Amino acid sequence: MEKIPVIYWSGTGNTKLMAEAVAEGIGAAAELKNVGDITAEAAGAYPALALGCSAMGAEVLEEYEFEPFFTALEPLLQGKKLVLFGSYGWGGSYMTDWEQRVQAAGAELVAPGLLAFGTPDELAIESCRELGAALAKA
Ligand SMILES: Cc1cc2nc3c(=O)[nH]c(=O)nc-3n(C[C@H](O)[C@H](O)[C@H](O)COP(=O)(O)O)c2cc1C
Repeated sequence: MEKIPVIYWSGTGNTKLMAEAVAEGIGAAAELKNVGDITAEAAGAYPALALGCSAMGAEVLEEYEFEPFFTALEPLLQGKKLVLFGSYGWGGSYMTDWEQRVQAAGAELVAPGLLAFGTPDELAIESCRELGAALAKA
């Protein structure tokens, strides 16, 4: 079975809850990883990936760990299948920019980027499970 990593950054645990639900939706193939636990080179070796990061700075990806990871991953994304998810507090437009970067890198977004407001409620958690299931099926 081809493994599918779920790689996330989460400051207060909201995106982590989403990542756990995405992994649940993927099933046995899922490998849940904090972004600090995997290099971009290693991540780029998988054909399908789920990436999660909350909105930070001013509508950007978290700048110190996740952004450098994603910048290094971008050249390796050609032909990959991806889903994106993250928690936000008041905006959420970073997700649109992130989707555009993924598409510009030549990857296929299996579903639109999934946002959850603050701590994901049960509905958001279910959407995360569905997102994971969609990636596993793609
Ligand atoms: C330093 C900082 C910057 C933030 N910037 C944004 C932002 O630009 N847009 C937004 O919608 N939320 C922003 N937020 C809110 C977080 O995205 C929100 O609290 C989210 O639930 C955090 O998820 P996490 O626990 O997975 O990190 C910011 C929070 C912090 C602490």
